Amino acid sequence: MFKGVMLLLDFTALSVVGCQWGDEGKGKVTDFLAAQSDVVVRYQGGPNAGHTVVVQNETFKLHHLPCGVLYPGKICILGNGMVLDALTLVAELEGLKKRGIVAEKLFISDRAHLILPYHLRQDSLEEVKRGGGKIGTTLRGIGPAYEDKTTRRGIRVGELRDEKRLKEKIAAVLEEKNELFNKVYGDEGITLQMIEAEYLPAALSLLPYITDTSYLLSSHLDRGDKVLFEGAQGAMLDIDYGTYPYVTSSGTLAGNICSGSGIPPGRVGAVLGVGKSYTTRVGEGPFPTEIKGETAVLIRNRGKEFGTTTGRPRRIGWLDGVALRHACRLNGVQHMALTLFDVLSGVGKLKIATAYRHRNGDLIEQFPAELHILEETTPVYQEYAGWSDDLSAVKNIHDLPQAAQNYIKGVEEIAGAHVSILSVGPRRDQTIWRL
Ligand code: IMP
Repeated sequence: MFKGVMLLLDFTALSVVGCQWGDEGKGKVTDFLAAQSDVVVRYQGGPNAGHTVVVQNETFKLHHLPCGVLYPGKICILGNGMVLDALTLVAELEGLKKRGIVAEKLFISDRAHLILPYHLRQDSLEEVKRGGGKIGTTLRGIGPAYEDKTTRRGIRVGELRDEKRLKEKIAAVLEEKNELFNKVYGDEGITLQMIEAEYLPAALSLLPYITDTSYLLSSHLDRGDKVLFEGAQGAMLDIDYGTYPYVTSSGTLAGNICSGSGIPPGRVGAVLGVGKSYTTRVGEGPFPTEIKGETAVLIRNRGKEFGTTTGRPRRIGWLDGVALRHACRLNGVQHMALTLFDVLSGVGKLKIATAYRHRNGDLIEQFPAELHILEETTPVYQEYAGWSDDLSAVKNIHDLPQAAQNYIKGVEEIAGAHVSILSVGPRRDQTIWRL
């Protein structure tokens, strides 16, 4: 089927990106496509991601590793745009090994940045200090690690190759961090011994995987191998175009694939956008179409809407067409995967936001940059009749109830993209292709 998408789009590379606030069900879609690829690449984010994949009724939750790891022989790349926590990455690799999966062709960019224990501490301290204004981060040290990258005190994976120099650098950064922790947050800080005893051995065990992944990836593209770029989080969590500051600290749009994996724009290929049939978000921040009460509980329970990484119950809302259109435009999405469609059966009347109405009467059709404007608006909804049929075994789009087909049409109109893949359940065989 991937072949079908490839032929249709005429590209050897395909990117899968989230078009909402993360958790769109990218794991299932990328897993499906990874089976048809030679190389699977992650290019941003880190263990804040939690991609759930169900293979033959076994559930895998991946945080750093791309879905390709579940297939023997696939080349998996953790690109330079990622931030990696050696302890959790090693635990992830060991967890898979216990289940008989060995990441035999894993390559980690020597230019990716390490998340160190002091980044996790900083993430927690900053969140507590923010009080009511907290971001609701995953507490995985993502923001502080990217901050250090940008302020040029980050530690790159390649630096693991020189242990002596590495220890000196960590000691120097730690001194600064501890001063910050002590003086600003009244926290006792972290000792170098703590890092040396636990973290460094894990980090050093990653040495065999480290290489120049940009060069490696280019050579695979030169050979005409099929490459899948696996995005993490979603467009609305993008550092520039998301609901700033309630975003993650990396670029989550397809445009970031180039700098996050070291390839030029012409090689990115087609972009498949993934969107849930409704909206969810975890963490704090604006959510214009959020709903509470019975319907939200019904959708949360049916869609198992609890965070993969943190276990937090996800906030639930109607499909936000303004955000979806923004995401599709920014990513150049022409083809979409619409996921968790089966969850909407029996929910009753459905709604899709097509615009926002500002309290001064203005109609807002483009997602605004300023959050206070968003807070002064209410969504303008298009209503759709619901359906109660169980869709989990439907194989063809034409076998869906008319109301369901109308809803899909509504999504396509607002998104400006074609729904090419419809997911009606967690298993691989619960996927309808529409090419
Ligand atoms: P951070 O990425 O841990 O700094 O968290 C920043 C924001 O992004 C918080 O609202 C998180 O809940 C959200 N976030 C980060 N990663 C994911 C993800 O994979 N899915 C959904 N939300 C995420």
